[in-house]
Amino acid sequence: MDYFEYKDGALHCEGVAVDEIARAVGTPAYVYSAATLLHHYRALAEAFAELKPTICFSIKSLANLQVLQVLAEAGSGFDVVSGGELARALAVGADPEGIVFAGVGKTDAEINEAIAAGIGLFNVESEAEFENLSRLAAAAGRTVRAALRVNPDVYDPKTHAYTTTGKKETKFGVDIDRAPAFFAAYGNDPHAKLDAVHLHIGSPIYSAEPYVRAITKALGLIEQLRAERFAVCTLDVGGGFAADYEAGASPLAADYAREILPLLADTGLEVILEPGRQIACNAGILLTRVLYTKAGGEKRFVIVDAAMTDLVRPAMYGSEHFVYPARLAAGAGAPERRPGYEAPGGVKVDVVGGVCESSDFLALGRVLPPVERGDLLAVFSAGAYGFVMGSQYNSRPRPAEVLVEGDAFRTVRPRERYEDLFATER
Ligand code: LLP
Repeated sequence: MDYFEYKDGALHCEGVAVDEIARAVGTPAYVYSAATLLHHYRALAEAFAELKPTICFSIKSLANLQVLQVLAEAGSGFDVVSGGELARALAVGADPEGIVFAGVGKTDAEINEAIAAGIGLFNVESEAEFENLSRLAAAAGRTVRAALRVNPDVYDPKTHAYTTTGKKETKFGVDIDRAPAFFAAYGNDPHAKLDAVHLHIGSPIYSAEPYVRAITKALGLIEQLRAERFAVCTLDVGGGFAADYEAGASPLAADYAREILPLLADTGLEVILEPGRQIACNAGILLTRVLYTKAGGEKRFVIVDAAMTDLVRPAMYGSEHFVYPARLAAGAGAPERRPGYEAPGGVKVDVVGGVCESSDFLALGRVLPPVERGDLLAVFSAGAYGFVMGSQYNSRPRPAEVLVEGDAFRTVRPRERYEDLFATER
């Protein structure tokens, strides 16, 4: 569900026609809908309300400061994985208590910054990291809280190999069987209070079932730890909640909650969720203009001004984003929002960027209405892991980011200029 809709043949984001935005800021440009962000944030908060969860928006999915501001004002906490993300959360005035810090490779500098900020929870991923955290907290004269990230050896067969994290053979967390020994060694540490368990099984997870398996395992562990007199009070179930790259394909927040809630309702545990994609994915599109069309053998190419540098997911994971013209031909109906949709009277094309790599494509084999130079296309479901994974490869300045609220829009990050590419190299 989102607030991107065709009205009178023109794609709108909330109350604004996106071609108006493209004219104002140029292309390529990311366009975010505040109402959509809030809709998905609230849907999760309401679905899990009975648990009074702490919802920590995963900054890695969409990091723009003004987007974070919208979520912070709605009461969101934040999941950070670097000093840079911590700085972003602090810059929007987030309550440090509502910040959780994950990641297998936290540096001393990053840990010290987080200790100084007084964040709520360190999600620790190894024995060596725990010892380092405790040492740094002691040196700072502070006590911090830590969760042990356990690897429950559960995964979703639909999740891409690069984004599966819950299997045994990943670099994330410690094997769940090792957790009792971990608590035995560190559960009474005076500087880092180890009283929580963290999981994250992958992203996206297309059903509640893998969560049920992982949480059930985690609850078994917590029960054992409590029997051994470790006062575990928090379970962070991570993120991974899917989003609709194809309309209606992903479970809703309420569908996940229906299965997960009963497991946690009477445990007395404080519950943390770390959603990124489910909130951000359909809150953003990437606008791009057609530069050229051409044939190559049997194939037809639509060459656009966005590229893998702006949205790398198709090149990196083979992800399929729905792509469609922002303006419909007179009398044409609005498309179904699914990558396999074939426009009536359409032409099969590959939508590609101008970067010097064969993997530089945004969409392959799509049946689009005939398009020509200057037409504006929208790449949907690009809010999560879009701009944040972009690069300046080929010395391409990064695109503008725009935030729409109702009938108003504003640039929340201007398009980079050439000078921005090399100013710090002089
Ligand atoms: N918590 C932890 C510990 C994570 O590693 C992640 C994502 C999240 C939360 C948020 O997951 P989400 O709710 O957004 O699924 N670049 C890939 C996705 C990588 C996800 C990495 N970790 C993509 O474009 O699909």
